[in-house]
Amino acid sequence: MSGDREPLMSKPLEGQVAVVTGGARGIGLATAQRLARDGARVAIWDRDPGLLDSAAFRPALLARVDVTDLASVQAVVAETEAALGRVDILVNNAGITGPVHPLWEYPPEAWHQVLAVNLTGVFHCCRAVLPGMRERRHGRIISVSSLSGKEGTPEIGAYAAAKAGVIGLTKSMARELAGSGVLVNSVAPAMAETELLQALTPDFIAAAKGRIPMGRFAGIAEIAAMIAWIAGPDCSFTTGFTFDISGGRATY
Ligand SMILES: NC(=O)c1ccc[n+]([C@@H]2O[C@H](COP(=O)([O-])OP(=O)(O)OC[C@H]3O[C@@H](n4cnc5c(N)ncnc54)[C@H](O)[C@@H]3O)[C@@H](O)[C@H]2O)c1
Repeated sequence: MSGDREPLMSKPLEGQVAVVTGGARGIGLATAQRLARDGARVAIWDRDPGLLDSAAFRPALLARVDVTDLASVQAVVAETEAALGRVDILVNNAGITGPVHPLWEYPPEAWHQVLAVNLTGVFHCCRAVLPGMRERRHGRIISVSSLSGKEGTPEIGAYAAAKAGVIGLTKSMARELAGSGVLVNSVAPAMAETELLQALTPDFIAAAKGRIPMGRFAGIAEIAAMIAWIAGPDCSFTTGFTFDISGGRATY
């Protein structure tokens, strides 16, 4: 493919099949809605599909899956391929913050759960969709990391470690797949106001907002728009990169 830009299309994802994990609410739902608006048929995979307000959005497929369970992920890939034909775009968005504690008091079971959802879940989903993407020589994987993964965040060490792991995994996979037609990137948002913040304390949230130079939280539609661009044809020569969406907080 040449580096010349095609004219802007109103439905740049027409004909594509996209999966959004954790898409029943929050950033995942906004992303599913945006990808659908851009022409993709969208499958939502979520541990709790009942969270989806079906009046707000009707995906092409809504499946119950726990990304920590490889067998459940493999089963939902088969279900998605049977219903929609294939997976062209995978958005690894499912995530939890875990509790707020200094590391020396951090509950070991919470550590394992946060790593299982935020990092091993990404591995499971990539592991399951990549054979099909490699065979078709086409695919886009976008994982939702966090600025915590770049900077570290006191008292949510498991979350920061998992999100840093996602950035490392993105770089490794991108190099393994560079000649295959499959591009692998991630995004690192600063804090956005979603249900995810319920596990955090008001002081923690206020401090996070105070570190954002633009003085506000990220909008979920802003994060979705960036993911949609990375998933689309205009992003054709970038792989292994983590895109910041941080209101000026990230300086590297
Ligand atoms: N909200 C923020 O400030 C922020 C900032 C940076 C990154 N992120 C990341 O964005 C992603 C989405 O966050 P959000 O704020 O929309 O959270 P949210 O809690 O509103 O939504 C998370 C979704 O993931 C699903 N989920 C959780 N565990 C799952 C599992 N094991 N298997 C399948 N689905 C599962 C939940 O049911 C829910 O629908 C997460 O990866 C989060 O770490 C969020």
